[in-house]
Amino acid sequence: MSKALIAKAEAQGNHLELGELISLLNLTDQEALDELWQAADRVRAKEVGEDVWLRGLLEFSNFCHCQCEYCGIRADNRSITRYRMTEDEILAAAREISAAGIGTIVLQSGEDAWWTGDRVARLISRLKIEHDLAITLSLGDRTKDELLLWRSAGADRYLLRFETSNSALYAKFHPDSTLATRLNTLAELKSLGYDVGSGCLVGLPGQTTRDLALDLLLGRDLELDMFGVGPFIPHPDTPLGGCPQGSTEMTYKMVALARLVMRNVHIPVTTALATLDADGREKGWQRGANVVMPNATPPPYRQQYELYKNKRCIDDTLKHCRGCLGGRIARIGRQVGQGQGGSLRKAGRTNE
Ligand code: 5AD
Ligand code: FES
Repeated sequence: MSKALIAKAEAQGNHLELGELISLLNLTDQEALDELWQAADRVRAKEVGEDVWLRGLLEFSNFCHCQCEYCGIRADNRSITRYRMTEDEILAAAREISAAGIGTIVLQSGEDAWWTGDRVARLISRLKIEHDLAITLSLGDRTKDELLLWRSAGADRYLLRFETSNSALYAKFHPDSTLATRLNTLAELKSLGYDVGSGCLVGLPGQTTRDLALDLLLGRDLELDMFGVGPFIPHPDTPLGGCPQGSTEMTYKMVALARLVMRNVHIPVTTALATLDADGREKGWQRGANVVMPNATPPPYRQQYELYKNKRCIDDTLKHCRGCLGGRIARIGRQVGQGQGGSLRKAGRTNE
């Protein structure tokens, strides 16, 4: 039974139905799981090739006015030191990303009102003048005017996870916003011509397998350029601090099924997965993923961008991680992507 279903997922995963996705997410038999990983790996090879793309992640402010219940930088967490990098510090970090041969900078922050539309636009313009980097923003729910301004200034891509497609769960864990708002922002980003990345968390308290299957269907229907999935990791200084962490096995199933359902999308191995599983990067890349986002945030800031504790590579320099990742990618027979590694969906590769 599972063999036929996995074969269908490999041939036409974009046509899988809710019940079928739930069955696949419920697989526990080791042989069936190995088949699922292999199917995802074959579809990865066919749809996005052997390149693994590096994106330099710069966490440039951990101020946040939101109260997301799982997140360590939520406004109410007084136990972390807040920081906001200066424009010059950000430009210096961008230089390190370029020097490491990485083609994309991901500018991520909490929802920080100090970084107004104009300040971010000025930063984007300066980055574009100094570097040949694709610019990905990850700044949360912002207004349509700001998103337009940044796109005009040269921003190429935007990451905004929907976190969960279950609107009741979304509301429970995000007191400042609603799923509808987030989906509206995602639609605006698309209409402005950004390459759009979204995704979800695995293992939120109360989240069911059906919810996760629906996350995959929502990801498919949004026609995304990138899809990221990570396990929930409880942070002790948050309301969800006492809850169990998300399952790495379920996260791998989500990565594999995201590949099978969304075909030519970019899929990162998330830092959260690499944090919970020492072989997380290699396993992720061999089960559907084709991206990794090494941390380019300089100390001491990177230690203070504490979405959760014990983050992987927290004390390693970008240069060190660049070398380490290159070796890990080569050892599994793949290669580091050269250039910016833009949307494969827009490049018009197969997505039957
Ligand atoms: N565990 C795992 N992932 C988290 N994120 C935020 N807090 C946590 C946590 N405690 C994820 C969210 C967000 C991304 C930047 O980090 O999914 O979109
Ligand atoms: Fe950071 Fe290996 S990727 S040390």
